[in-house]
Amino acid sequence: MNSKLPTITKSLAMYERAKKLMHPITQTLAKGPGQFTFGVSPIYIERAKGSKIWDVDGNEYLDYCMGIGPISLGYAYDKVDNAIKEQLEKGITFSLMHRLELEVAEKLHEIIPNAESIRISKQGADVCSAAVRIARAFTKRSTVAVCGYHGWHDWYIGTTTRDAGIPQQIKDLTVSIKYNDIESVRAAMTADLACVILEPIVFEEPKHNFLQELAEICKANGTLLIFDEMWTGFRLALGGAQEYFNVKPDLAVYSKACANGMPVAFLTGRDDVMSLFETDVFYFTTFGGEALSLAATLATIDEMQSKNVPQYLATQGQKIKDGFNALLEKHQMQDYISIGGYPCRSIVNFSEKAGDGLVLKTYLQQEMIKRGILWSSFHNMCFSHSDADVQFTLDAYNDIFPTFKTLIESKIVESALQGAVLEPVFRKLKF
Ligand SMILES: Cc1ncc(COP(=O)(O)O)c(C=O)c1O
Repeated sequence: MNSKLPTITKSLAMYERAKKLMHPITQTLAKGPGQFTFGVSPIYIERAKGSKIWDVDGNEYLDYCMGIGPISLGYAYDKVDNAIKEQLEKGITFSLMHRLELEVAEKLHEIIPNAESIRISKQGADVCSAAVRIARAFTKRSTVAVCGYHGWHDWYIGTTTRDAGIPQQIKDLTVSIKYNDIESVRAAMTADLACVILEPIVFEEPKHNFLQELAEICKANGTLLIFDEMWTGFRLALGGAQEYFNVKPDLAVYSKACANGMPVAFLTGRDDVMSLFETDVFYFTTFGGEALSLAATLATIDEMQSKNVPQYLATQGQKIKDGFNALLEKHQMQDYISIGGYPCRSIVNFSEKAGDGLVLKTYLQQEMIKRGILWSSFHNMCFSHSDADVQFTLDAYNDIFPTFKTLIESKIVESALQGAVLEPVFRKLKF
């Protein structure tokens, strides 16, 4: 197995050019140099196919980041790409609504339990904001409770440590609740609470019927429940966590995995709430009905339904989890490392006993890159992750673990780093 660092000369030269013009150089924090060890990791990508990605220097990697969520089937997936090309011949954006807007809405109505009514947009933050606005209008209340990450807009980012530029008056209208802590939910239930928006799962499982109880408490308080299904939608189940856990939120938002990489987002929900968009609540955008993404959405859903893709993601992801756990046992690493999360998106965690989590993650990423795997703690599974890919990944961990264990036990992991220590993932709530 290869254990040499790839040559990344072109990546580094492009980085230097970008630094002169762009502040920061990345449009997506999770793709930037802070999340991929600088000096070791590739920085710029040229192309990708299936589960593989090639950087600008021509190095090939098996990818587990999958565009930070959107790639649910695989890169440059023929069925979706052909649907995009076919639509491209007919046009992209038009002067009236396009037939596909209706066809996508009908499809979502069929697969998402709470989709009595549907709006279409472009990105996750859009539909989160639209959901919060309509919840405030419907309830005639102002306060919002958040749990998880929801995008760059004021009402959410105001709760984080990176809150410059957001007026205090806006910040005062957001509170946070803790996942699996029903008392924190009860404490948030004031007469002014318009909605709770939460990621129904991140890595932790809901305990003691948390989601059901949350729905009941919200209902009793006249507060709307919004599921942020960016990660769960089209992955955990086609209809997302609301289908998987059988809990119907008043509103739900989807984006990442809906169109295998094309930019599209959906807001689904109760007819009586959503109908306020007809009159009092304004939410319109130029590219909402852009047809390439809608063609990609229909092709993605069709493939997911006919091949039962969520089940495939769960099966392949479980093979990674089981294989990883077996390797931890084989190398006696259970005190230092664990694997958590649902099979469709598992995460490697380090114990406090093992040392500084960011240093350990940086080392493991560096060693995975040497072995041809682009890795950032997660295994975001897609339909193109084959059994051979799973085996390749487990072989890499097997190869890395003996030295990693020695470094951990000698407390010298940092000395083995060949690049910069990673930055924390941005999910920093202030309260
Ligand atoms: C759970 C969740 N909600 C909302 C968003 C915001 O989506 P976007 O970046 O498309 O605006 C993200 C993005 O990572 C997310 O993970």
